[in-house]
Amino acid sequence: MLSETDARARGLADLPEVQSDLLLQLIALCNADPRPEKIDVGVGVFRDGHGNTPILKVIKEAERILLETQETKSYLGSAGDKRFAELLRPVLLGEHADDDRIAGLQTPGGCGALRLGFELIATVNPNARVLVGTPTWPNHAPIIRAVGLQMIEYPYYDRDACSIRFDAMVAALKEARAGDVVLLHGCCHNPTGADLDDGQWAEVAPIIAERGLLPFVDIAYQGFGRGLDEDARGLRGLLSACDEVIAAQSCDKNFSVYRDRVGSLFVKTGSTDTTARAMAHVGQRAREMWSMPPDHGAAAVRIVLDTPKLRQRWPGELAAMRDRINSVRQRIASADPRLAYIGNQFGMFSMLPLSRDQVLALRERHAIYMADSGRFNVVGLSDAQVDRFTAAVVEALDA
Ligand SMILES: Cc1ncc(COP(=O)(O)O)c(C=O)c1O
Repeated sequence: MLSETDARARGLADLPEVQSDLLLQLIALCNADPRPEKIDVGVGVFRDGHGNTPILKVIKEAERILLETQETKSYLGSAGDKRFAELLRPVLLGEHADDDRIAGLQTPGGCGALRLGFELIATVNPNARVLVGTPTWPNHAPIIRAVGLQMIEYPYYDRDACSIRFDAMVAALKEARAGDVVLLHGCCHNPTGADLDDGQWAEVAPIIAERGLLPFVDIAYQGFGRGLDEDARGLRGLLSACDEVIAAQSCDKNFSVYRDRVGSLFVKTGSTDTTARAMAHVGQRAREMWSMPPDHGAAAVRIVLDTPKLRQRWPGELAAMRDRINSVRQRIASADPRLAYIGNQFGMFSMLPLSRDQVLALRERHAIYMADSGRFNVVGLSDAQVDRFTAAVVEALDA
């Protein structure tokens, strides 16, 4: 029989405090700062030259079509919108789109896809270890740990040298055991902006294949770096080299539908039978967690991809976002030789080689809000803010 103390210990009042997310803390601090000149480069979304995150015109149009044509909101099932996943195949998989050993399904954003992919791994091998290059996106570790998998870190990026530690990465892969999972950023590495180049991908893929490792590609920013096909080259190279590959994809950035939670999980195995079995497990895990993904955003993306005039216009709107990212990068890079590396990186994020004290000084003196790690979002800057930002950063680097 339970004692009174045991019964009380299980009350919700006994829950421990949760360490609040540092990026959320940063947003709160920035919001509370009354200085009108404040600069928020901690934010994780695309902003245009005026500091807005607009809805894409193709999405607005697709939503109008959806409103006019949708006849039911009946359940769709745990795989969500199947046509959405089908239409994503050529976008993501390119030359592998017709490989029937690859199957995909809709998920609630890239986060949902990551969680589901790791759930699948834990289902088949709860002792699998996940190799993660550091630094990485802060939500990777909690997702991996929530599933109960062990995480093994290796150094991916040298913050002071502002470059990838490719030798350390290759050494870590060569030491990995068959069955280990390798988590890789498909493009636009968050938080560093430092992507493997084509030669490095070509070196990494055969090592992964030969050692029997399972590549898990997180691709949340396809089209934000070099282009839709260019940004998927690493993933596609792995699909050529390896029998088993998992990819967690997000449309939240490249269709600018962040809050609508649009993503997908793709799984490749060595045979269509195994893929079908894997997808049955994936469906089961999805059913346990969220039952079905939200429909609206994926339906809008599906309409864009399925409507020739919208499908044709989407890459243009995506290119406009990419061009802004890259033009802000070039402006920052040209301000000082120590910032030149930023011009050679991709996606929204880069990392400044600043100490925590320097980051805090930028916050206090210049109302510039970035993560303590020195990670900043290049398009957190409006066009009017870039020069003031770079001047303040150069001053911090000189100090
Ligand atoms: C590296 C990386 N993976 C996955 C995600 C998840 O994206 P979503 O908002 O679609 O869940 C993000 C979002 O910031 C990310 O930066």
